[in-house]
Amino acid sequence: MVETIQWTAGGVVMIDQTRLPNEEVYVTCRTHEDVARAIRGMVIRGAPAIGVAAAMGMALGALEADGADFEPHLERVGATLAATRPTAVNLFWAIERMKRLYASLRGRPLREIRERLVEEARRIREEDIEINRAMGRHGAPLVPDGKTVLTHCNAGALATAGYGTALGVIRAAVEAGKKIDVFADETRPFLQGARLTAWELQQDGIPTTLITDSMAGHFLKSGRIGCVVVGADRIAANGDVANKIGTYAVAVLARENNVPFYVAAPVSTLDLSLASGDAIPIEERPPAEVTHVSGVPVAPAGVAARNPAFDVTPARYVTAIITERGVARPPYEEPLRRLAAG
Ligand code: MRU
Repeated sequence: MVETIQWTAGGVVMIDQTRLPNEEVYVTCRTHEDVARAIRGMVIRGAPAIGVAAAMGMALGALEADGADFEPHLERVGATLAATRPTAVNLFWAIERMKRLYASLRGRPLREIRERLVEEARRIREEDIEINRAMGRHGAPLVPDGKTVLTHCNAGALATAGYGTALGVIRAAVEAGKKIDVFADETRPFLQGARLTAWELQQDGIPTTLITDSMAGHFLKSGRIGCVVVGADRIAANGDVANKIGTYAVAVLARENNVPFYVAAPVSTLDLSLASGDAIPIEERPPAEVTHVSGVPVAPAGVAARNPAFDVTPARYVTAIITERGVARPPYEEPLRRLAAG
């Protein structure tokens, strides 16, 4: 399986997701600023992967300063990383976890603090893979045998430290012997479905068919789609789900056609401080991602374009939320609280 992100002696090594599927290139981040640039520039993306990157960015930050400047530097590193992308809550979750660990170590020798922060970042990566496998075990029984699974964006190994959330559920269903294939929405404008999901499923030999986003309704109506499985960037207390732009439309079309719509996400994606999805900040990305495809203009120069990177699917369209601790069903408030509490 592809190595999305790793801590090495030379720095944080990531596969460059802006270059896939045409080139398999790895970049090395040696400073926390390199990591922040990689997150902002989509070299690494996907909520859990961004979380792992942020934790490793904090660990690099811990190696960059000492003496009286150590604590203010770590604060600044946290602020720089937090300013990269606003929607995926895993980013903030990981920064907070690293800060909490530092707070518990304050006053210890610097060498020990640094070691422990590096260890913690590596642990967050390893835990993420375990979490995805557990999510797969909980989710696989929900996937109907002999049917097609529709997914949107990339919630796979590339969006996590490995195995994936939505694609982890699909992988676990395949490992359990289910005869399924995948329809992957191309996911305009950034094409995570076409470039990343199709690539990683092809590497695994899971039969995959690429469709444009506007074809999803047609196939959901056809009866061949057994369920939809997607990931999430933030889930509010009432079960509203922020995920890649276009997810909402897929959810509504799934409901219209009585196709179950599942969301697979770790509990670190839950943001129970928000009562509903209305409060989730939605990242607006450069209009050039809409007016251009791979740098080539596909619209008249100067036309206005909007580019919200995420949308919010109301909880009423979500059949179930699959986490590493179990499956929540509506009404979501109580089960999500229970899952978050462990
Ligand atoms: O803009 P991206 O590529 O970071 O958006 C990714 C998604 O929307 C994913 O579906 C989500 O982060 C879940 S990844 C397991």
